[in-house]
Amino acid sequence: MNAGASGPTQLLPHEFEGLRRVIRQVAGIHLRETKKPLVAGRLQRRLRELGLESFSDYLRLVEDSANGDERKELINCITTNKTSFFREPHHFDFLRGKVIPEILERVRAGMPKRIRIWSAGCSTGQEPWTIAMTVADALGSLAGWDVRILASDLDTNVLESAEHAVYDDEELASVPAPLRDRWFEPVAGGHRVNGALRALVTFRRINLVDFSSWKIRTHFDVIFCRNVAIYFDRPTQEALFDGLASLLEPTGYLLSGHSENLHGLSHVLRPLGNTVHVPMAQPSGALRGPRPAPAVQPRNIPPSPSPSSSPSPSPSTPEIAIQVGGVQASATGARLRTTLGSCIAVCLHDPEAQVGGMNHFLLPHDRTGNRGPSSFGVHAMEMLINAMMKLGGERHRFVAKVFGASQQFGPGSQHHVAKKNADFVLRFLADEGIPVVAQKLGARSALSVVFDTAEGRAFVRTFNRAPGVVEAERRHLAALSSASRSFADDITFFGAA
Ligand SMILES: C[S@@+](CC[C@H](N)C(=O)[O-])C[C@H]1O[C@@H](n2cnc3c(N)ncnc32)[C@H](O)[C@@H]1O
Repeated sequence: MNAGASGPTQLLPHEFEGLRRVIRQVAGIHLRETKKPLVAGRLQRRLRELGLESFSDYLRLVEDSANGDERKELINCITTNKTSFFREPHHFDFLRGKVIPEILERVRAGMPKRIRIWSAGCSTGQEPWTIAMTVADALGSLAGWDVRILASDLDTNVLESAEHAVYDDEELASVPAPLRDRWFEPVAGGHRVNGALRALVTFRRINLVDFSSWKIRTHFDVIFCRNVAIYFDRPTQEALFDGLASLLEPTGYLLSGHSENLHGLSHVLRPLGNTVHVPMAQPSGALRGPRPAPAVQPRNIPPSPSPSSSPSPSPSTPEIAIQVGGVQASATGARLRTTLGSCIAVCLHDPEAQVGGMNHFLLPHDRTGNRGPSSFGVHAMEMLINAMMKLGGERHRFVAKVFGASQQFGPGSQHHVAKKNADFVLRFLADEGIPVVAQKLGARSALSVVFDTAEGRAFVRTFNRAPGVVEAERRHLAALSSASRSFADDITFFGAA
């Protein structure tokens, strides 16, 4: 509806609702009610350009997923692209003073002279160019180095500016003069990043909330994902940080924006400082250090298939993350947490001794001899039973809760693995005479499981987008695949899905 011949078009409540639904669906961006004037303001010009009379007409256009180009325009209008050179400068001090020296140390120990960094949500390019300048300056000379910086954004307009790499004096004011002199050359309209630096950066349109658009085959030493996730809702943030974590080198770092606190959002990353995060597991698979107290309280986790209500753990109950190959039991009360795709976690409980434990395994049997035995069900089950018995548990009292073997991956390799795992674990427990009192196997989604070892209660949450889990499992499976041809012959890895 037009407010007047030349006045702004009014955005009605149902139109705003519809637009924010589309924006959320396409970009994961969660717009609060207070953003209504901003949406109305930013889309006025687009309506005029298209000759549309009302926001309802525009909504009809973007509701149709066939209109991908207009959806892109919509997101371009809505995204907030504020950025600057050396924004949040402590991250670049960290890159220069900690990350690069660590890489140099590894190079001295024989690792290749290779650096991979991702600026995820790079806006108009100031962030990736600052990264490139910092790295190049810290290395002194790029000769012999294989440095690649991926810079991505959803907004095609900002990507174009980023790649064009021309900035005016005002924008360059935060770049120290020696760096400006070394890495920029004068052009019409300002200064352009020079060819040596431009050669380090690749630009790509990547929608951070659409994991199918990532298609990234490398692992990064550092991921900058700053001032982007702030616009997403919590489940989207959780999935995003899991996905980013899966693309970090075990020695890598994830840097978030000053107001993006990952506490409770990720159980695969732990904070080093407010905005610096590292993967939980070191290359050896051992934990880097104690897991911080979770901000997500268990009441947020829907109940498991067992008839239990929400847990009320004492605040001092330790929480332990169990990775692939992990086995843990406790007689003093612990909350064991894991995330599963096609893998299996078995939770055993002795109600009388109040001893409980969990394992997390990848495949039923070991045919390679090359990997930690606890990655295989047949060993992981024995290890869990033994650990429980050492703590005073008695085998005849054990009951089991079994989770995983998710079928979310289609008819490819992990689907096949999931089925084998489910068959194996149920047969194993039946043979051992251990009753299965609850199970969630073969779901069409990944699972997050928390097991209270004292009470024997399990809390399960399903989530559909879990690239972190899927990727981690794929990597484990790929490692096994290359370890043994006879084994690879048995299960087709990375078959056409
Ligand atoms: C405020 S800027 C941050 C730029 C830079 N990282 C910084 O901290 O200076 C946020 C950027 O995230 C991008 N963005 C928003 N949603 C996105 C999504 N779903 N996928 C990829 N980028 C997105 C926006 O287009 C915008 O350029």
